[in-house]
Amino acid sequence: MNFASDNWAGATPEVMAALVKANDGAAPAYGSDALTRRVTGLFSEVFEKEVEVWFTATGTGSNSLGLAALSRPGGLVLCSSEAHIHSDEWGATEFQSGGMKLVTMPQVAGRVSAEALRQTLSRFPEGNRFGVPVALSLTNATECGTVYAPAAVAELAGLARAQGLAVHMDGARFGNAVAATGAKPAELTWKSGVDFLSFGGTKNGCWAAEAIVVFSPDKLSDLAARRQRAGHTFSKSRFVAAQFEAYLTGGNWLRWAGQANARAEQLRVGLRASSQARLGWGSEANEVFAVLPRETIARIRLAGGTLYEWPAEGMGLTADEDLVRLVTSWATSPDEVARFLAMVG
Ligand SMILES: Cc1ncc(COP(=O)(O)O)c(C=O)c1O
Repeated sequence: MNFASDNWAGATPEVMAALVKANDGAAPAYGSDALTRRVTGLFSEVFEKEVEVWFTATGTGSNSLGLAALSRPGGLVLCSSEAHIHSDEWGATEFQSGGMKLVTMPQVAGRVSAEALRQTLSRFPEGNRFGVPVALSLTNATECGTVYAPAAVAELAGLARAQGLAVHMDGARFGNAVAATGAKPAELTWKSGVDFLSFGGTKNGCWAAEAIVVFSPDKLSDLAARRQRAGHTFSKSRFVAAQFEAYLTGGNWLRWAGQANARAEQLRVGLRASSQARLGWGSEANEVFAVLPRETIARIRLAGGTLYEWPAEGMGLTADEDLVRLVTSWATSPDEVARFLAMVG
């Protein structure tokens, strides 16, 4: 009963097999191998556009290096108050960009509204003394398990672009967002105004495969140099490429993300029907937030279950309740979910 994180899951058999296959013989280093070139082509097919692809080792690397490529003195990056770049990355964007500042916006279940963005943008008119907004960063799927559909991305991106901002999408769980919305990858990104995407593979079946996918290369500068200096340029690039090839081929990534989302839906259905628990809020992707009795959480842990408590200010919990985050992955089985729900009662 692992609901701690999709980072706890292993890599899929397909990805492991691809790694073993890529291990045959020697290949040119630093991304000049045939496999890396082939995979760049695969990304372009998936996104229905010629894209630049920069492998990185981590989602934090993708987010911070991509955003740093927009840096300018006094630059501001607008993001939700729940954004991973704000709360979990130890100031990586600020550091890599040489001191750009993050400006957080109110969110509901992880999503920023057009009104919140409008209000935030109005705080920084031309010639103000506080800084220049250079980027809007949206996370999809969000840190709260919700998703932005293409129309919502387009509305937010449209507002941002109208004021000259570039649009970044943190897609550490992009596969889950695509699977949940049913949208095409292109519709959820560049066709809706996204300029570059942190494309995650690690949480959804890879071993360590992340990439910055660039749709508007003219907006980002010195990405190659920034990646090199940050130590994210892989010498044995073929091993990352091999993972992505297995990931993207035949729609595997969407099948795995769909499985994770389906297990999360199984959890949501069971929790809605429970007399002992309730959902913290509705979600659509592979993260579920539930209010459980503390005693139930302890029993689940005693039985070997893993899950994390989550901040619950303002949610009106009683002293013997807690909010927990439950994350499913490609590896979560229906039986694992059923056992968990049986323990919740
Ligand atoms: C939404 C989101 N973005 C980015 C990351 C960063 O990933 P990494 O831990 O690989 O740096 C995470 C990881 O949990 C995440 O949840």
